[in-house]
Amino acid sequence: MLPLYSFFSFCLVAVNSVQAQYIPTDTQALTIKEIEHYYLDAATNGFFSAITPCTNYQDPTAPAPDNTLGMQTAAEWIRTAFHDFVTGSIFTGLGGLDASIGFETGRRENVGAAFNDALLFFSFFYNAQVSMADLIALGVVTSVANCGGPKVPMKVGRVDATAAGPSGVPEPETSISDTLNEFNTAGFNDGDTVTLTACGHSMGGVHRNIFPQVVPASAIGPNNADGRVPFDETVAVFDVTTVNDYVHWTGAKGGPLVTTTNKTVQSDLRLYTYDNNQTITQLSQSSAYFQSQCQGVMQRMIELVPYSVRLSAPIDPTTTTNLKPAAIYLSVDWKGNMALSGFMRYVQVAGAAAPPGTLKITLIGRNGQTTAISATGTMSASDTGTGIWGPTRSYPFTLSFPATTGLGGISVSGQTFSFQDTMFVVPGMSNFSPTPPTFSTTSSLNTVSTYTVNITVAYLTTAPPASLTATFNIPVPQAGTVSPTISTSTTATLQKIGTVGPFTIFSVITSKSLSAKQVYGTSVDVAAPGQAAGVKFFKPFNKAA
Ligand code: HEM
Repeated sequence: MLPLYSFFSFCLVAVNSVQAQYIPTDTQALTIKEIEHYYLDAATNGFFSAITPCTNYQDPTAPAPDNTLGMQTAAEWIRTAFHDFVTGSIFTGLGGLDASIGFETGRRENVGAAFNDALLFFSFFYNAQVSMADLIALGVVTSVANCGGPKVPMKVGRVDATAAGPSGVPEPETSISDTLNEFNTAGFNDGDTVTLTACGHSMGGVHRNIFPQVVPASAIGPNNADGRVPFDETVAVFDVTTVNDYVHWTGAKGGPLVTTTNKTVQSDLRLYTYDNNQTITQLSQSSAYFQSQCQGVMQRMIELVPYSVRLSAPIDPTTTTNLKPAAIYLSVDWKGNMALSGFMRYVQVAGAAAPPGTLKITLIGRNGQTTAISATGTMSASDTGTGIWGPTRSYPFTLSFPATTGLGGISVSGQTFSFQDTMFVVPGMSNFSPTPPTFSTTSSLNTVSTYTVNITVAYLTTAPPASLTATFNIPVPQAGTVSPTISTSTTATLQKIGTVGPFTIFSVITSKSLSAKQVYGTSVDVAAPGQAAGVKFFKPFNKAA
């Protein structure tokens, strides 16, 4: 049996889809749903766990956070995006935010644990629909907003590099002309370069153990084993303090890359003074101005992608996801009773009405007509998610209806959400056994077991084929980087096992040797011979997020 927490994720994609949103004609809609889950549904062990509180440091190879080192995950995530993106080029249209940093950690310009720390943590959330590059972007968006900064728009669709890209990340020793040239190639003019660096250097600091040429040994002390000297007095807040300190020559005076006595590595001082302090002084005019400028340059940083990559619209619950179905699954039993289960997610964004106590969910049948069949979703008392957009509430529901009526969609509070029931994995007749340990972002998920895998699919067709093919999308290690890649090399053939009403049921039992972490990242696509996948991205386990 599946545990209660493991809702089946979205598993409905038409072979010939015509409707929007829940029958995506491109797979980006699936990516958006998955990232929304990480971004909006707060949960223990979720994406935010490593950066909550903002002082936290989580080494993903260790069982628990360690705050004695002077390290900080939120700052590491922002620095990771910088080192990944800045070697991209607007002239060649190559590189940018593409997770190539994973292949480049041996370079002197990428010294420090930050990059592998970030990629290893993100690897728990990686799967066939969510690229490492999108997770690096999400890392910036969540750490900036979670720690007092602006909401940088979160778009999805980035594609991971399969090899190292060019080198050229500016180092503290790099000349000002080479530094500006590198940023210019990435699409940032000289003023933008000051702004982006000042924004980045609002959080975290410089560590003695990796930059002894900048920071003296005296920085090492109790709860600061790596000897961090922060950029400012509010190390865990994304704010204008570093800039103000520098402009007014107070506090940390802009941090170690300004104040170090080693002139060769005064890279922030060289940069800020390059235009006679004009840009940095402008940034200090107000907190609101600083935040809005940072929002702009951070967005451009995470949106530098190869010309071939098409990004989605931003995930913005104020416009699109304030009320939306999530973790939906569809089932049918041998008597021909169907059920649509999952929850409605309500994000109480600023200015939105208080969450209703209940929601009425009405079925739209396969023929597109609204039916008299409805269910009540009651706000979950235990669910008081505190995402960066406002409290997130969930309304679990189950709609029951006959297979002859079928599913075309649901209507809730005046909104219509389209679904279809052409082909779907039947959750009650599909599972991975044994059940993996509860999802967590630690090495406890590394245990490898042999899982018995049962995949059972219902196919609405008048001309059923002899069999269907399931393709497993499994995260596997990739040479040269700690980022996994997806293997699609294993398939299984589902045989007909019966019919229920208009559906033909196909099933297979197979086995797989996987780590629990891989099980959480695995998804299954199912297709009839010669057709595009009718089921895409069926995830047996929906990790906490
Ligand atoms: C001229 C360009 C830059 C140079 C030479 C530079 C150099 C450095 C150095 C030497 C450190 C110390 C790293 C450590 O000890 O862990 C650092 C930290 C950091 N940098 Fe930069 N940086 C530059 C621009 C940027 C930009 C554009 C961003 C992001 C938008 C950024 C974000 C960060 C962050 C967040 C940290 C703190 C890391 C931590 O505390 O773990 N930097 N930078």
